[in-house]
Amino acid sequence: MKHLIKKLKIGSVELKNNLALAPMAGITNAAFRSLCIEGGAGLVVSEMVSAESIRYGNRKTLKLLEIYPSEHPIAIQLFGSDPCIMALAAEEAEKLGADIIDVNAGCPVRKVCAQGSGAALMKEPGTLETIIKKIVKAVKLPVTVKIRSGLAAKEIISPGLAVLIEGAGASAITLHGRAAADLHGGPPDYEAFAGTAAAVKIPVFGNGGVRAAADAARILETGCAGVAIGRAAVENPAVFAEVAEGLKDGGGERKGGKTGEGGGTAHNVTRGPAEKIKLFMRFLELNAALYGPERGVICARKLVGYWLKGFPHSSALRASFMAARALPEANALLLQYMGKHDSRIV
Ligand SMILES: Cc1cc2nc3c(=O)[nH]c(=O)nc-3n(C[C@H](O)[C@H](O)[C@H](O)COP(=O)(O)O)c2cc1C
Repeated sequence: MKHLIKKLKIGSVELKNNLALAPMAGITNAAFRSLCIEGGAGLVVSEMVSAESIRYGNRKTLKLLEIYPSEHPIAIQLFGSDPCIMALAAEEAEKLGADIIDVNAGCPVRKVCAQGSGAALMKEPGTLETIIKKIVKAVKLPVTVKIRSGLAAKEIISPGLAVLIEGAGASAITLHGRAAADLHGGPPDYEAFAGTAAAVKIPVFGNGGVRAAADAARILETGCAGVAIGRAAVENPAVFAEVAEGLKDGGGERKGGKTGEGGGTAHNVTRGPAEKIKLFMRFLELNAALYGPERGVICARKLVGYWLKGFPHSSALRASFMAARALPEANALLLQYMGKHDSRIV
């Protein structure tokens, strides 16, 4: 199983391993990505950023492009449908320190698709091809693309698209192995992983339902060069180190346990709940440095449900956290919780 965890190159960018963070809107900001790099990720990715808003210099959007020195290698993910605007946005992201430009061609959200962006680009391969070619020409960085296995449930169109994407000059593909119609639910399609990985020479990162080494192993065994992890990283940014360790140890069991859709058993080598709360407090601090002590806490609300999953009396803590307005209040709540439940959560 050792061969499944390996160093990888995306164009000229070297990754220490083949485990990437999947982009998540409202979650994968500089603070969270720093924790994932510390937690063993070989690559981190920003949330999708509107190319159009970058063009207009929207202040909130430019904040999304903020990169900490500690979080390389990092891909900035762009969404849009106009090839020239996407190329301009890519140039801006390059100036701001991105290592890789990722094109979102998989987001199923209606608002995004209605503008011809995200998964709508899978229906317009000519436009997708032009976008990739224009970005490749505009920047020196490697360009990657994130797609779905298909649009309608059970449809697999990713192998053909992957060939087009490679031909247009992209250096890697992330394949979310669920159709756009399936949003984020259900098991990923392993046939789509195998077919897509076999269709191209560039690395394909399989994505969907990875929570443990066995889930990652199942995807890597289809021929994918790497895996991308989304929601499991929100619960535990150290999941990357745990998956890497588990893959070295033989990939874990593939039956039972608290696992992803691949059915693997979590290889929990690092954090218990007390450590996770301390890590959450650190995240709050980093988030406050990014957005200020009030907004930093408000922005963290999206994560708290994931973070506290499975903790005793977590719903009461979650409710109080949702009402917290600034950093000292949020920290006090978390410390109080640790004190109260110490023996049960350490
Ligand atoms: C809250 C949330 C936000 C997401 N935002 C993005 C995004 O901005 N760009 C993107 O390509 N995918 C986005 N995704 C999809 C994830 O990158 C990933 O493909 C999906 O969660 C499946 O991986 P997982 O099963 O490991 O979570 C998002 C998913 C979630 C749950």
